[in-house]
Amino acid sequence: MICVAHRGSSGEYPENTLLAFRRALEAGATWLELDVHLSADGELIVIHDESLERTTNGSGLVGNFCLQELRRLDAGRGEAIPLLAEVLALLGEKDTLNIELKGKGTGSVTAMLLKEWLERGQIKPENLLISSFSPAELFHFRRGVSELRLAIICDQLPENLWGLAESLRLWSCHFERTLITDEMVAEAHRRGLRVLAFTVNQHSELQRLEKLGVDGVFTDFFATILMRQ
Ligand code: G3P
Ligand code: MG
Repeated sequence: MICVAHRGSSGEYPENTLLAFRRALEAGATWLELDVHLSADGELIVIHDESLERTTNGSGLVGNFCLQELRRLDAGRGEAIPLLAEVLALLGEKDTLNIELKGKGTGSVTAMLLKEWLERGQIKPENLLISSFSPAELFHFRRGVSELRLAIICDQLPENLWGLAESLRLWSCHFERTLITDEMVAEAHRRGLRVLAFTVNQHSELQRLEKLGVDGVFTDFFATILMRQ
């Protein structure tokens, strides 16, 4: 069972910060998830919302500010908003980073950045999984880098899910946990796809999903979710 530290150890530390990612790795996580947006000057930054209010001391839309302005903000406990490259640099050989393409335009820019890292041998394809709610961003990404693992994220069931899975050559489907049924998991597996569930913060829910046959979960509480509660 894959257990992904969702936005790092975000249940205990400010989400999507280097602090939260470091703490998750220290707790033994080998899978991290983060969300990317583009700054006004085209840098890939790690933040969940398109606006700054909820997770920083700034306000307004992320995409209206350049990197230098965004880096001055406090994303919690004095942490700066990280660059995607800073989180990539934290990964060990056995770690996997799930990069969620959140903002418009992130597909092609992320593909360009990862291509450079892959060509320089700074990261291996098996260290990466790229996901998005947006099929368009996944298609843009696929055009830039053809060999990496991709996942679609769904908070409701799309009619053309299996068609998308084929045309995007998906590795996995990431579903909001209450959507998942055993028939769906069986069909995904029949098609060679893995099923991951988000967001799972209780051990009893982890066990329920395990019984349905899911291959992995996203949790805000990596350090404690695997323990019986
Ligand atoms: O990728 C799983 C999950 O991160 C998707 O939802 O809103 O937490 O990015 P959200
Ligand atoms: Mg996410």
